[in-house]
Amino acid sequence: MMTRTEADATLFGAETAWQRFSVPFEFPVVFTEHLFDPANPAFVEALRRREPAKRHRALILVDEGAAAVAPGLVEQVEGYFAAHAGSLALVAPPEIVAGGERIKTELTHLEHMQDRIHELRIDRHSYVVAIGGGAVLDAAGLAAATAHRGVRHVRVPTTVLSQNDSGVGVKNAVNLKGVKNYVGTFAPPWAVLNDYAFIRALPARERRAGIAEAVKVALIRDGDFFRWLEANADRLATFEESAEREMIRRCAALHMKQIGTGGDPFEMGSARPLDYGHWSAHKLEALTRHRLRHGEAVAIGVALDARYSVLAGLLPEGEEARVATLLEHLGFDIFHPALERRDASGASLLLAGLDEFREHLGGELTITLLSALGVGVEVNEMDGAKVAASIDWLRARTGR
Ligand SMILES: NC(=O)c1ccc[n+]([C@@H]2O[C@H](COP(=O)([O-])OP(=O)(O)OC[C@H]3O[C@@H](n4cnc5c(N)ncnc54)[C@H](O)[C@@H]3O)[C@@H](O)[C@H]2O)c1
Ligand SMILES: [Zn+2]
Repeated sequence: MMTRTEADATLFGAETAWQRFSVPFEFPVVFTEHLFDPANPAFVEALRRREPAKRHRALILVDEGAAAVAPGLVEQVEGYFAAHAGSLALVAPPEIVAGGERIKTELTHLEHMQDRIHELRIDRHSYVVAIGGGAVLDAAGLAAATAHRGVRHVRVPTTVLSQNDSGVGVKNAVNLKGVKNYVGTFAPPWAVLNDYAFIRALPARERRAGIAEAVKVALIRDGDFFRWLEANADRLATFEESAEREMIRRCAALHMKQIGTGGDPFEMGSARPLDYGHWSAHKLEALTRHRLRHGEAVAIGVALDARYSVLAGLLPEGEEARVATLLEHLGFDIFHPALERRDASGASLLLAGLDEFREHLGGELTITLLSALGVGVEVNEMDGAKVAASIDWLRARTGR
C-alpha cells in the first residue's frame, strides 16, 4: 500500500531525481624556514604541483606588519621569482596591503584586491598569494574565492595564530554590519606554506595571542596536548623556540584532523567544535572594537566556557581552575570589563553574542563545552545566570 506521502506525491505528479557528487580536496601544508631562499623548493613546488611544465602567474599581497619587520621581504620574493623564472612569473611587484582587522573591516581593501586581480588578469589557473596574519589571509582569501568564482589562493601565514589555526582552515571572511566574519566563503587554499622566520619577528602580544587557539583545541580534542601545554607553559610564555614550534605544529595538526576527518568541513551542521570559547570571543572583539586581539578574546572565552562547564555540571570542579591557571601562566588576562557591559535597558551585551552565534550557525544553537580536559561536548542552550556567574568567577580570579 502507498503511504500518505507517496499518494500525495503521485497526486501532484512529483518526480524527484537525486543529484549526488562529491569533490575531493587536498592541499599541502608545509613547515619550512627561509621560504624565499631561491634554494628552497617549497614555494615553486607547491605552485607547479599539478602542471609542472607551465609558467605560473602570481599576484603577491604582503601584510604591512610582516613587511615592516622584514624589510628585504619584497626583494626576496622578487629574487625568488627571478631565480625560478622558468616556472614562476610575477604579474606585478609584490603589493603591500593593510594588516590586522582593518583589512577585514574597511571594505575598500577588499575592493582594491578585487580590482588588482581583475587588472592583472589573474585567471582560474593563476595564483593570489597572501603573506600575512589571519586577517590578511581572510580578506585576500575572500577576494580570491569570489573573483571568477574562485582563483587559486596560496597562504603564507606570518603569525602564530595563522600558522597554528586559521592558515590550515578552509574559510575566509570580512566583517560587515558590525558582525565579525559576516561575509565570507568556504574555499580550501591551494597550499599553505609556513615559515617560522616570520614568527621570530612578531611582537610579543601577537605571538602570545595565537597560543590561545592551542589551548582551545587541546581542551576539546587532546588531553595529552593540554598536559603538554601545562608542562611547557613557562617555555611558551618566554617564546622558547623549540616549544613554540612544537605548539604550532601540534595545534595545526589537530585543526587539520578536525577539518579533514570531523565529517563537516564546510560546516553544514550546527556543531562547530573548533569554535569552543568563540561565541563570547567574537562578541568581545566587536565590543572592544578589536582592541582585544582575536587570540586574547579567545583566551577569555575559553576560560569562561570552562567555568560554565563546571556550573552546568559537565566538568568536575577544579578542572576549570587548571584552564585559568594555564592561560594566566601563558600571560593572558582572562577578564575584560566588556564582559559586563549592558545596553540602556540593562540587558547584557555579551549575551546578545549568543543570538548572533545562533544566527551564524543557521540552525539550533550548538555550543561546545567540556566534559573533561581534552573532551568537548555539545549543548543546545546556555543559561544567562550561569554565564553571569562564570563572569563573576573570572573577575574574582583576577582580583577585580
Ligand atoms: N578563517 C579562519 O578559519 C580563521 C580562524 C581563526 C582566526 N581567523 C581570523 O584571523 C584574524 C586574526 O589573525 P592574527 O591573529 O594572525 O592577527 P592579524 O592578522 O590581525 O595580525 C595582527 C598584527 O600583526 C601584524 N603582523 C602580521 N604578521 C607579522 C609579522 N610576521 N611580524 C610582525 N607583525 C606582523 C599585522 O599587520 C597586524 O597588525 C581574525 O580576523 C580572525 O577572525 C580566521
Ligand atoms: Zn579563533
